[in-house]
Amino acid sequence: MRTVLVTGGTGYIGSHTVVELQQAGYRVVIVDDLSNSYADVVDNIEKISGQRPGFVKADLKNRAATMDLFSSAPEIEAVIHFAASKAVGESVEKPVAYYRNNIDSLLNLLEAMQKYGVNHIVFSSSCTVYGEPDQLPVDENAPIKKANSPYGNTKQICEEILRDARVPDPDLNVVSLRYFNPIGAHPSALIGELPIGVPNNLVPFITQTAIGIRKELKVFGDDYNTPDGSAIRDYINVVDLAKAHVVAIERLISEKNKAGFEIFNLGTGRGNSVFEVIKAFEKVSGKKLNYSVTGRRDGDVEQVFANTDLANRELGWKAEKSLEETLSSAWKWEQHVRTNQKN
Ligand code: UFG
Repeated sequence: MRTVLVTGGTGYIGSHTVVELQQAGYRVVIVDDLSNSYADVVDNIEKISGQRPGFVKADLKNRAATMDLFSSAPEIEAVIHFAASKAVGESVEKPVAYYRNNIDSLLNLLEAMQKYGVNHIVFSSSCTVYGEPDQLPVDENAPIKKANSPYGNTKQICEEILRDARVPDPDLNVVSLRYFNPIGAHPSALIGELPIGVPNNLVPFITQTAIGIRKELKVFGDDYNTPDGSAIRDYINVVDLAKAHVVAIERLISEKNKAGFEIFNLGTGRGNSVFEVIKAFEKVSGKKLNYSVTGRRDGDVEQVFANTDLANRELGWKAEKSLEETLSSAWKWEQHVRTNQKN
């Protein structure tokens, strides 16, 4: 059985990916510092897959701990690197901490991978690298725009580090996956997104409002140049997204990625406005959502959605779940969390 190290594996996208890897026949070792997730996610992963992943609590900023991780698990063949800080607003407040965390952890990982002969890495990147794209849908050749937050900049810098790291070390195989807007939860409602404090993102804010934790959703702007005036994003189901990682790992391990450094957009190819998401949520939940329109949020782009042709063709992967099914899974998860008083 092949073993994959999943950094940030108790986090939102990480935990869903662990389940999909296990269901595809991989053994998984998770490393996470639990700075933004809970240890019992490991139990819930086991409930879904019937297999307990290995779990190491460690901070990848710690170089010695990162080396220890690899020396104690020589069976690791590939890495999926999710572990990172990801709040756009917080990164503006704490830029140094964001650079330290997101960059140092990648550097330590790469050094450890080189020392222990691990050549395959899948990197969690973001459509934030495209900024406000000139053309829609946006494809992988679109220019990288100046990042509008330290968080976004760390994603650009990490991609550059990976590209450069291959030059003297062509055995290093890299797939960078640029996510659009991941939403929803596992259909079992055993794992999902658990934002700490007030959610920044749209869908957790919607579900928390619907369940009564937040009074009202603020729609950030209805004066965009879009059909209904609200901003447009490409909302992708987190399980669909997780499945793309399994395909990427298979591609790396079987050395199908001839280019050595590959980038794929992961989205649905469909753009939905904030008002459309609200309407779809009301339909699937049967709840009337309390919301009002306020001003635009700093740093938000008007619209971004993916051209997914490359991922469809090269990875043979396609997002399958509808917006409604995905919102329904997010709602089921919110109700599960509140029933169990998780957060
Ligand atoms: N929105 C609201 N009200 C809210 C929260 C969000 O109207 O309370 C709107 C936003 O203005 C935006 C849309 O809902 O138009 C989606 O917002 P999210 O915060 O859910 O997602 P973003 O598109 O802003 O951010 C996502 C990822 C980031 C990544 C960024 C790249 O969460 O990590 O995409 O564009 F950097």
